[in-house]
Amino acid sequence: MESIAKAEQMEPRLNCQKVLPTRSVPSLLDDVKQGLLQVPRRLPAKYFYDEHGSQLFDKICDTHEYYPTRTEDSLLENAAEDIIKHCQPAHLVELGSGTSRKTRRLFDACEKHDHQVKYWPFDVCEEMVKKASESLVDEYHWLDVNGLVGDYNAGLKHLPELPGRSLYVFLGGTIGNFAHDEGVAFLSELRQSMSADDMLLMGADRIKDEGILNSAYNDKEGITAAFNLNLLNVLNKEVEADFDSEKFKHHAFFNQDESQIEMHLIATEQQTVKLQALETEILFEEGDSILTEISRKFTQTSLSNMLKEAGFALTKHFSPENNYFSLVLASPEA
Ligand code: AVJ
Repeated sequence: MESIAKAEQMEPRLNCQKVLPTRSVPSLLDDVKQGLLQVPRRLPAKYFYDEHGSQLFDKICDTHEYYPTRTEDSLLENAAEDIIKHCQPAHLVELGSGTSRKTRRLFDACEKHDHQVKYWPFDVCEEMVKKASESLVDEYHWLDVNGLVGDYNAGLKHLPELPGRSLYVFLGGTIGNFAHDEGVAFLSELRQSMSADDMLLMGADRIKDEGILNSAYNDKEGITAAFNLNLLNVLNKEVEADFDSEKFKHHAFFNQDESQIEMHLIATEQQTVKLQALETEILFEEGDSILTEISRKFTQTSLSNMLKEAGFALTKHFSPENNYFSLVLASPEA
C-alpha cells in the first residue's frame, strides 16, 4: 500500500499488511459440500457479503426496523469517553472493521481527551481496509492507522504483537452469528492472543419483544429479503449454480427455544438446481429450507456466561434504557 508520508516524516501514518492464517479454513466449495448437499441444509452467514450483499447490508442498517446498528452507535457515542478513560489503550484492534463507521465514536473520544492511539482495522476485504484507513487518516490528523488484511476465522496467532495495552473491538453483534460453542471457541482464541493487560469491547444484541425482533429481520421494503436471496447469486457465481431466486422466498423468525433469529431460504416449488463446479445437482421439494444465518440474542447473564466460559471477566456493561443492545468491556481472567 502506498504511504502518504512526506519525505521528511520518519514514520508513515498509513500502513497495511496481511495477516497470515493460523489454519486453513473451509472454502466456499467445502462449505457447500458440507452444508448444502446434506439435510438440514445450511450455509455460513459470511457468504452474504459480496459487493452487492455488503451494499444491501448497509441499506438494512438504515431501515426503520433494523434497530441494532443505530442502537449500538448511540450507545457507543455515550460510552466512548468512559471506555477510553477506563481503558487508556495504546492500540485499538478491530475485528471485522468494515467501513469503521461506528469506531469513529472512539476516535472522537480519544481526540477530546488528547489520548493518542494507533488503529489496527482487521478485515477480509483488502479494498475495504484500505479505503477506510485512507479516510481515517484524512479525518483524524493525529491518528496512525495500520490496516490488517486477513480472515479472523482462520485464527489470530499471526496478529502483530503490540507493545502497551490493546483494546480489541468486535462490534455489530456479529458474535451472534456463531453458535454457542463456536462463539466460545472464537473468544477463547482471542483471549489466547491477548496480553493480561489488554481488553475487549464487544457488542451483542439482546432478547426483547418478539415482534420487534421479527420486524428487524423482515423490513417492509424487503431489503433483508433481497440480502438473503442474494446468497443464491453468490452461489450461482462461485459454484456455477443455476438457482432461480424467484423460486425461493425469504423466511426469518425468532426461535424462542434457541434465543436466535433464524434466516432461511424456502423453496416455493419443486425444482432441481445444478451445481456445475461440483458436478452435482440438488432436488428441492416445495417448502424445503436452507438455513442461511443465525443471529443469537442474549441476556446480560448469558452474555457474561459466554465471556466467562471463554476466560474473560466482564468489567463494564453498557446498555440503553430499553435494553435493546449491550456493549461490554471485558478483561482476560487471571
Ligand atoms: C451483521 C451479523 C450482526 O445478525 O443482525 C442483518 C446481519 N442479517 N440482517 C445480524 C443481518 C440480517 C447482522 N450481523
